[in-house]
Amino acid sequence: MKAMLYHRIGGPEVLEYTDVPDPVPGPGDVVVDVAATALNRLDVLQRNGWYHMDGFTLPHIAGMDIAGTVAVVGAAVAEWQPGDRVVVDPSMAGVRDDSKLAGMGDLYGDLGILGGILDGGYAERCLVPASHCYQVPDHVSLEEAATFPTVWLTAGHALFATGGLAADETVMIHAAGSGVSVAGIQLAKHAGATVLATAGTDAKCERATEIGADHVLNNRTGDVTGWAMEVTGGRGVDMVFDHVGTALFPQSLFSLAIGGRLVNCGNASGDEATIASLGHLFHNGLSIIGSDPYRPDEMGPLWDTFCAGLASGEMRAVIDSQYPLAEAAAAQQKMLDSDFFGKILLRP
Ligand SMILES: NC(=O)c1ccc[n+]([C@@H]2O[C@H](COP(=O)([O-])OP(=O)(O)OC[C@H]3O[C@@H](n4cnc5c(N)ncnc54)[C@H](OP(=O)(O)O)[C@@H]3O)[C@@H](O)[C@H]2O)c1
Repeated sequence: MKAMLYHRIGGPEVLEYTDVPDPVPGPGDVVVDVAATALNRLDVLQRNGWYHMDGFTLPHIAGMDIAGTVAVVGAAVAEWQPGDRVVVDPSMAGVRDDSKLAGMGDLYGDLGILGGILDGGYAERCLVPASHCYQVPDHVSLEEAATFPTVWLTAGHALFATGGLAADETVMIHAAGSGVSVAGIQLAKHAGATVLATAGTDAKCERATEIGADHVLNNRTGDVTGWAMEVTGGRGVDMVFDHVGTALFPQSLFSLAIGGRLVNCGNASGDEATIASLGHLFHNGLSIIGSDPYRPDEMGPLWDTFCAGLASGEMRAVIDSQYPLAEAAAAQQKMLDSDFFGKILLRP
């Protein structure tokens, strides 16, 4: 099969579009013919060498978010047939024992992630545990399905399991055009919350309104804290859901209401953050909460919510652009340039 892999760390030139052996399933696995793979920030962070997940090795095939059709089923797999349309949970927590990918399910240690440390979807085919496939209903395209796993699960886990967002609350979400935030805005609206969204351009702010944000601000030109206070009548927001990290951390902290929570799941702009006033933190009873990895049992219910949301028109799978697999370098550059809203897809 054709795959896009790299043997060394570096710029786009390290990506090689080449032939590799087809994967062979274990008894509890299936091999998926990949129809679409969504890019994630991790793809470029690891290729550039800016960050590597524990267990990352070279050569590496990236691509965490895979949708396609079942091509080959393992000997012990009864629930899937060739031709079934599936989307895949890329986190190897909760994998059945007869899968080749079993034994890497420690959420806080040895956690296998397809496309993170295991071979992923930048390829014509991908080996996945049968237990981690979910049926794609007819009304959802495989391209729409590929936009889902990592970012919707990350956003859902952060907003609800970690942050406990409630219907009558206000939440501020940064980088509105990023995969995680496109999901977060829609999930927060679905839950009945009021959403304040910020982004790096006016055009992205406008798009955020289209997917449900109640209030939007350009965070490069606007005063984030002043705006959050104005919009909430001087109260502040109940929650900030942030994955931008360094760049917007102080503004986020000072935008919180009394008892507010800053829920963080990423560090796109940097890993260091300064608390300018511990007094402000403790006096107002603020919480800073890291959002740990989502759990395997979160995929099914959230996938059902997403599919129902697409059917009713309440939710959208926001696809920014699609590239042939051979043009993965151009797709990754678009991500590095932050020149996108929603998900960038590769089509093997
Ligand atoms: N904890 C987890 O389980 C988990 C899972 C998935 C992802 N993540 C993390 O979540 C983050 C987002 O992932 P993603 O795939 O959604 O990323 P993404 O789509 O690539 O979006 C990242 C966005 O961050 C914003 N940004 C970058 N530098 C900035 C700066 N200096 N100031 C303000 N905004 C800045 C940009 O938005 P603008 O264009 O608006 O400036 C950019 O589009 C990443 O850090 C990723 O590692 C964590």
